[in-house]
Amino acid sequence: MKLKIPTISLFFFLISTPATLLEASNNGNRGFTLEENEDTHIKRSDFPSGFLFGTATSAYQVEGAYLEDGKSLSNWDVFSHSGGCEENGDIADDHYHMFLGDIELMHSIGIQAYRFSITWARILPRGRFGKVNPAGIMFYNKIIDNLILKGIEPFVTINHVDLPQELEDRYGSWLNPEMQEEFVYLAETCFKSFGDRVKYWITINEPQLLAELAYEWGVFPPCRCSEPFGNCLDGNSDVEPIIVMHNLLLAHGRAAKLYHEYFQPTQGGSIGLAVHAYMYEPLTDSELDHQAAKRAFAFHSGWTLDPSIFGDYPEELKEYLGYALPSFSLDEKNFMTNSIDFIGINHYSSIYVKDCTNASCSATGNRAIQGFLEAVGERDGVPIGEHTGARNSYVVPKGMEEIVNLIKIRYNNKPMFITENGYSTPDLHEQRVDELTNDVKRIEYHTKYLASLAKSIRGGADVRGYFAWSFMDSYEWLYGYDVRFGLYHVDRQTLARTPKLSASWYKNFLSNNSDFVFMETSRDNIY
Ligand code: BGC
Repeated sequence: MKLKIPTISLFFFLISTPATLLEASNNGNRGFTLEENEDTHIKRSDFPSGFLFGTATSAYQVEGAYLEDGKSLSNWDVFSHSGGCEENGDIADDHYHMFLGDIELMHSIGIQAYRFSITWARILPRGRFGKVNPAGIMFYNKIIDNLILKGIEPFVTINHVDLPQELEDRYGSWLNPEMQEEFVYLAETCFKSFGDRVKYWITINEPQLLAELAYEWGVFPPCRCSEPFGNCLDGNSDVEPIIVMHNLLLAHGRAAKLYHEYFQPTQGGSIGLAVHAYMYEPLTDSELDHQAAKRAFAFHSGWTLDPSIFGDYPEELKEYLGYALPSFSLDEKNFMTNSIDFIGINHYSSIYVKDCTNASCSATGNRAIQGFLEAVGERDGVPIGEHTGARNSYVVPKGMEEIVNLIKIRYNNKPMFITENGYSTPDLHEQRVDELTNDVKRIEYHTKYLASLAKSIRGGADVRGYFAWSFMDSYEWLYGYDVRFGLYHVDRQTLARTPKLSASWYKNFLSNNSDFVFMETSRDNIY
């Protein structure tokens, strides 16, 4: 449903923004500069040399071409067509046909890396029992070759949410251990086909969030859940996410083992995972809320990272989930331990956490699968940070330094990449392009989060790259196209890409200028 809210003028936008942050320039251009202070004074040269700056997308969110060149239907094609959500990715940004222009735009900003994902149904339409689709392989070869031609490092996520519908029908997707073999076959196909040029792999994007959305809340396909989480046709929200996580983790571990043993020695790349990582703050100063915040990390990012680094689940999960939590065999522990060479951190926001073991919570907070805790955005009616367009996502820049430091300490400073960080405007109404592209708030967000990241690096955190989410406005899952994260605006009718102010800011930042003055001419590269 599209919300009709009166259009906000740029003038209002500027005067309603805190004066300490923005200063309208008086240089004859319609421009502004970010006032320099500790939070916004950030330069490319504040990061180590060799640090990769990039942008990110995922296949279903941008590719479109949903039935072209031998691709089979994915679970998201079927889900979105059957009323699971109002919009679909049939066309999305038509990146499938427009990737050359998109790479040109990335090059024009000056990024060093592009994170994208593979459509499973495009290269293995029928999973491991069918043939590899040469047209699918060719498509990603073209992307990879053209990125390299422009000096952009391909950073490839093997699976980001979508999978062939046939696997969902055959196995109930990740509920079945057979999916481990399916995934390993997909990963092997990728290593064989692209590994001579791809030096950074991410096996699976946000396993824990996927398990939670699809098997606990039942809002992503295959939409399985039970009360009080939702009213699905089938499923068990207290148990299935645990099984699904075990399969996702072992799928990752087996693929990483294969890479480490058979491909890394000759191809020389590295392999990691990307976790969705909130920074959790205790709602009150009570000891119980402090413990709940610690537990929240274990139940979210830790659920993925502990097994992938230490070879076992966090203690908090063992304590709260008891016998429902499967254990890893000795062999599995061995290959899971240090199965990642780097940690991918998708960080957008901080959130408060409240303990539910001793306080009254919602029906869902009172469940073991949730770790007996509840995440809340407000304390005494005051939000933890400014609202954004995504639910439970707030602007809390210091959270970046905090989450990086937490992960640094817990995982002995394993190399990290910020694989996603970005801002969506809370104004979900249809605005005119020139208003949508004056995205001062997005610049403010990235600048402050980068300043916070730089602090953690100065403090010794081994962070090696940063990917702005997203390169362009795209299909935002259940939100459709109304929630926009892009540095480039995409017109839904013509699919024309228009650089937002943030694209010009990123370009300017990457050329090592901290002062940013917007020029009309920076709009030239619309196509
Ligand atoms: C997901 C993206 C999504 C982004 C913004 C991340 O958790 O990996 O696919 O677009 O959040 O909501």
